[in-house]
Amino acid sequence: MQGITKNDLIIRIGGEGGEGVISVGDFITQACAHAGLDVYTFKTFPAEIKGGYAMYQVRASTERLYNQGDTFDVLCAFNGEAYNMNRASLRPGTAIVYDSPGDFTPDIPPGVFAYPIPMTQTAKDMHNPRAKNMVAMGAMSVLFNIPVESLREVITAKFSRKGEDVVKGNLTAFEHGRELAQALGKTDPWTLGTPKGKQDVIVMSGNNAIGLGALIAGLDFFSAYPITPATEVAIYVARHLPKRGGTLIQAEDEIASISQVLGASYAGKKAMTSTSGPGLSLMSEMLGMAFMAELPCVVVDVQRGGPSTGLPTKHEQSDLFLAIHGGHGDAGRIVLSVESIHDCIDLTVVAFNLAEKYQCPVLLLSDGSLAFSTQNVPYPNPDDYHVVERKRWDGQGEYRRYTLTEDGISPMADPGTPGGMHIATGLEHNEAGLPSYASANHEAMQAKRFNKLKNVVNDVAPTEVDGEGAADLGLIAWGSTIGVVREALQRLRAEDYKVKGFYPKLLNPLPTQQFEDFGASCKRLLLPEVNFQGQLAHFVRAETSLRPESYTICGGMPFTPEMIVNKVKEILA
Ligand code: COA
Repeated sequence: MQGITKNDLIIRIGGEGGEGVISVGDFITQACAHAGLDVYTFKTFPAEIKGGYAMYQVRASTERLYNQGDTFDVLCAFNGEAYNMNRASLRPGTAIVYDSPGDFTPDIPPGVFAYPIPMTQTAKDMHNPRAKNMVAMGAMSVLFNIPVESLREVITAKFSRKGEDVVKGNLTAFEHGRELAQALGKTDPWTLGTPKGKQDVIVMSGNNAIGLGALIAGLDFFSAYPITPATEVAIYVARHLPKRGGTLIQAEDEIASISQVLGASYAGKKAMTSTSGPGLSLMSEMLGMAFMAELPCVVVDVQRGGPSTGLPTKHEQSDLFLAIHGGHGDAGRIVLSVESIHDCIDLTVVAFNLAEKYQCPVLLLSDGSLAFSTQNVPYPNPDDYHVVERKRWDGQGEYRRYTLTEDGISPMADPGTPGGMHIATGLEHNEAGLPSYASANHEAMQAKRFNKLKNVVNDVAPTEVDGEGAADLGLIAWGSTIGVVREALQRLRAEDYKVKGFYPKLLNPLPTQQFEDFGASCKRLLLPEVNFQGQLAHFVRAETSLRPESYTICGGMPFTPEMIVNKVKEILA
């Protein structure tokens, strides 16, 4: 079967939660990545364990990928709901592989290439209804040239924990699917580009990558309460931290988890928790205490659709106000935001380094898109990372925990250090750590705690500027929107648009001079972000002289490159 090689193919699989949609997406992703293609995935699933619409989109390419792409080239519909959800996106040239006979009869639009595959029936005939998804995957492997040997290896590896019979049954269903597609014959023009050959990569989700970054940074203690979409961070850490002598606790709630993290930090340990918006709200009081008591800690917030319980499994970038200012009193913290899966590793290490150096809470913002998206990343070498330890007391002279120093950083003594006894409470304290309500003392201590943060900008890589010279339009992006903007700018430049990008990772304290320098090189500025209020745009307007136009969406899905391209063209028209 021959087709036109498409160097950038997007396959979307849709079906009911419980039908194994996610497994098919994962298997195709693993197979493509190990065969040497670049992969980027996006998935969304219902809040229910069984039932509801589950979707997995795999983008595979011979080129570097930064996001999940615009829309699919291939749709694989396990049921009528998946078909209906995606019917509007079918266009001439799209291919659809669907269950037939199934619970629906599709009205295939003109120009769409249709492959009816008896997925349910074949699996039923094998007395293995679960294997419906493998029949579908077998068919797709033939039709779109998905590396078949890699797929067989992945099926074997993934199902081996369920027993030999499960592996055999699924491999057989997979081969049946291949035969069915071969019998149908290929009519659409698309096949995947030729892979580079076996690569030494790992395919990770953003959540796992954050867990890995924490281990590289020297995580000793982790406590969290499960919450979608952050739970996977805890699952990853639970798998690996105890083997390295660290401690993990599943706390009874988020207040307990952050409190335990602060206790561990006081005891001299590198400590972290992970949560999502509702959990971060509960932590806000203890984050104030972390600032007051100058206790290093890393808090990962995997943002989801809010407010309140909101859209728990959907994507949003709407916790920035809470991250920067959530809490009572004048409390500071460092806020970082990750762009990509690789960044989830690197920036988590940076988050720990900053927390330990500046003895304060560091909030690391990820989002629902990065949490579940997977991408191939080169296997990280821990020796390549610079890891910072906190400034410890040298045991000389009288110990004063909060001694006023030029850079605002006071050496810490681990409990048990002779002479290093001190108290860490939420009360204002003097240099010795004893309660003090004297106004001059409070002013001096607030200045100490805030002034040290002024140097943070020097410890984070300068904000990346994407493009050179003067631009008609500059795009400022944060979080996973950066990857979308990167691709949009490539497409716009190919059409001779004068556009540039600016991708801040340090969001508090804001690197204001870097913003000003970027703004000076652009006639106009646009700031796309996935929240209703335009939260970063608000801070940029408040803290710099720049006046970016906001472009906001909040439908539970990330931007696509096409949306950004169209918006830019509209503005520059
Ligand atoms: N043979 C045997 N087992 C198979 C199989 C096959 N052919 N295909 C899939 N499975 C197994 C998978 O291995 C997985 O088992 P595991 O749980 O032991 O890992 C299970 O069936 C589910 O399949 P999977 O492909 O992972 O998911 P799915 O596409 O069927 O969708 C979810 C199910 C993930 C959507 C759903 O279970 C879920 O978790 N929903 C989210 C719940 C949530 O987070 N709610 C938030 C509330 S705030």
